Amino acid sequence: MKPNSVAVLGLQWGDEGKGKVIDYLSGRCDAVARFSGGANAGHTIVVDGQKYILKLLPSGVLREGKICLIGSGVALDPWILKTEIEELAQKGITVDGRLFIDFAAHLVLPLHKVADGYQDSLRGKGALDTTKRGIGPSYADRVSRVGLRMADIFDKEQLEEKIDYVFSRHEECVNKVGDDKLKDRKKLIGKLEELGAQFRPFVADVAAMIMELISSRKKVLFEGAQGMLLDVDLGTYPYVTSSHTTIGGLFSGLGIPPSYVGEVIGITKAYMTRVGHGPFVSEISGDLAEELRESGGEYGSVTGRPRRVGWLDLVALKRAIRANGVDKLAITKLDVLDRFEELYICESYQLKGARTNGIPPNHPDFAKAEPVLTKIAGWGKPTVGINKIDGLPRNARKYIDYISLKTDVPVWLISTGSSRESTIIVEG
Ligand code: GDP
Ligand code: IMO
Ligand code: MG
Repeated sequence: MKPNSVAVLGLQWGDEGKGKVIDYLSGRCDAVARFSGGANAGHTIVVDGQKYILKLLPSGVLREGKICLIGSGVALDPWILKTEIEELAQKGITVDGRLFIDFAAHLVLPLHKVADGYQDSLRGKGALDTTKRGIGPSYADRVSRVGLRMADIFDKEQLEEKIDYVFSRHEECVNKVGDDKLKDRKKLIGKLEELGAQFRPFVADVAAMIMELISSRKKVLFEGAQGMLLDVDLGTYPYVTSSHTTIGGLFSGLGIPPSYVGEVIGITKAYMTRVGHGPFVSEISGDLAEELRESGGEYGSVTGRPRRVGWLDLVALKRAIRANGVDKLAITKLDVLDRFEELYICESYQLKGARTNGIPPNHPDFAKAEPVLTKIAGWGKPTVGINKIDGLPRNARKYIDYISLKTDVPVWLISTGSSRESTIIVEG
């Protein structure tokens, strides 16, 4: 029997609307599990007109009683998680008894954030423009086997020694740019112990919990962070994040085998955005870009940076679908295109005088590719809030059908606004 679970993954450079879609779908699930990334993520959910931006807590948390799991693949900043929990509590949402954090989740420490900014500045013109949330340095410590994990906080005897290791890795940076507060190891240990005491009731063997939930036919949703093109291996390297944002990261980040994943839903915006530096084949500029950015409210939910915008890139989308084994598509922000008379879709690339239907995003030539665009008629009518497929204007349906035809994947969900209600489920 197929497991009762669904993975929801971003297929672009992040910000596809994962928060909105996962919150919507979590109404049909028992548990939501985050498997990668850290507080570089900003997943926006709008409920009854109130906006929530989640960084570490899984996007099912706003629904009462849903189990929220944070896997070992997540880079966990305990300071940010604490604030996030407290802010939700002020709004009447509590996580007691339903939040579980894997004991092996690696921590993001204050020095990782400083190192993040410092290391990016050393790149000069080639800077990645990271979120400065300490993600790269924390994952680097993890693979260098000096990282500090959630469980380490509870091991008083070894904590000091482990902190020393981490500091030795970042000595140059701490001495150059760190203030005295950052250098105070005793204070850091004290703070970690305090945070540890608060988090202790939440720490668990998340992998075992997920397997148990699925075996007892509970429905589990696996929440992706970032997107395919930011995957450390499969994305536009080196302009990527430091984790596996794609399906492989789900297995290692949660400690479960492929047989526990029932289906994969891939999310794409109806167009494309990117925040931070790096190649973007179908990027547009000038007034048109400004209009698209304003229409879509395309400003980073974590850093407020204006997002770069462009037309939907089918070459990249097809690759993301294949790499992740996507069964169904969720297309978001269709309403953002309402005002455009003409739309474009990137069908292939022009590279070195030849047309190509696909160079991988991690290929050195990817940055040199030019988009080959197909013009598509817009619909010129509002779609905001439409929640039935029959309610969509003819050309909007044609646009959706075109994406489905070209990718050979059914479109299962269409989002026409940030609220839960602005959602179309395409049955059949
Ligand atoms: P995530 O990181 O993938 O969760 O996406 P973000 O939350 O960073 O960015 C998506 C933005 O688009 C948020 O402000 C959402 O509220 C908003 N959004 C999501 N779906 C829709 C939609 O269908 N239409 C519109 N207009 N906004 C949407
Ligand atoms: P969600 O989950 C969009 C980008 C950063 C930068 C690059 C590396 O909300 O979709 P990092 O801080 O991870 O080392 O930065 O990755 N980036 C994101 N862009 N959405 C995200 O997450 C992102 N997380 C990281 O802007 O270009
Ligand atoms: Mg986001």
